[in-house]
Amino acid sequence: TPLHPFLAALPKCEHHLHLEGTLEPELLFELSRKNNITLPASTDPAFGSVETLLARYKTFKNLDDFLGYYYIGMSVLLHASDFEALAYAYFSKAASQRVRHAEVFFDPQAHTSRGVDLAALVEGFKKAQARARADFGMSTELIMCLLRHLPPPSAMETFSQAREAGYFADGTLAAIGMDSSELPFPPPMWKDLYDAAGSGGIRRTVHAGEEGPASYMTQALDLLDAQRIDHGIRAFLDEDDKLIARLVRQKTLLTMCPLSNVKLNVIPSIADFPLKKLLDAGVTFSINSDDPAYFEGYILENYCALQEAFQLSVRDWESIAKGAVMGSWCSESRKEELL
Ligand code: HPA
Ligand code: ZN
Repeated sequence: TPLHPFLAALPKCEHHLHLEGTLEPELLFELSRKNNITLPASTDPAFGSVETLLARYKTFKNLDDFLGYYYIGMSVLLHASDFEALAYAYFSKAASQRVRHAEVFFDPQAHTSRGVDLAALVEGFKKAQARARADFGMSTELIMCLLRHLPPPSAMETFSQAREAGYFADGTLAAIGMDSSELPFPPPMWKDLYDAAGSGGIRRTVHAGEEGPASYMTQALDLLDAQRIDHGIRAFLDEDDKLIARLVRQKTLLTMCPLSNVKLNVIPSIADFPLKKLLDAGVTFSINSDDPAYFEGYILENYCALQEAFQLSVRDWESIAKGAVMGSWCSESRKEELL
């Protein structure tokens, strides 16, 4: 597209990126050999090779179909050095696409349930963050996501463990989030957890309105006091005008992921992404990659896919980029630098 060089050079913020979703098949197989983790190749031939796995990633039926691969994939991660390698590979790739500030998710329960210590995860990620700062001048924040498909007490226990370790107080963790399957696990299930975070002055975001209806987004705002919503596309697909007006009024950041939405069949094609509605309504949003190793594109590919479908102006993109900076969880002085 004609704007490709402009989009490549545009300074970016990424707010919706699962570190485990950046595990490329090459590193997945390398770590499975190194750590002696057997992949289920006997029951699923997709795990036979890098090529068959990439072919399987071409189409997912829905969120849960993808999540099955996502959780098996991350089972090869065991040591602090594995988590460091994973995160640093992502930060390097993001820097090459001019990401200047990244707020990234990880799923502690998916690792602690396999016997990996929370401290090992944090140690590996922090080393990668320090290298990203030194090598690329990139600012990064970690957001701890709790898993919806596990019982609420498991989420509460993981949150408490992180809080007791001082990770929120010392800035190791910037916020909590909530991810995994959405429809069967609506926001009311997580009220105690979000109340505990809110009363502790801890920032809160929630995946909502991806496969779940717009009403889950309203519940996330009302019951969980969410300060940000990850995805949130269903407000526009369901044409919930009252909710949209509220998002605009409250300046709630929506962290949107267009290629992910197509890959997981949330929308039929990129042309169905409600970009014009977002711009016309004046919603604050950012464009992000979600799980780039699985969805055939990092942040720049998401920007370019939208540009090909919608032919935005330079001014449109500058306003999207500005909204992303303003919605970031970084200091005011860092925002100045990013603008
Ligand atoms: N939705 C819910 N859970 C997830 C996602 C997502 O897009 N990616 C990784 N975990
Ligand atoms: Zn996500």
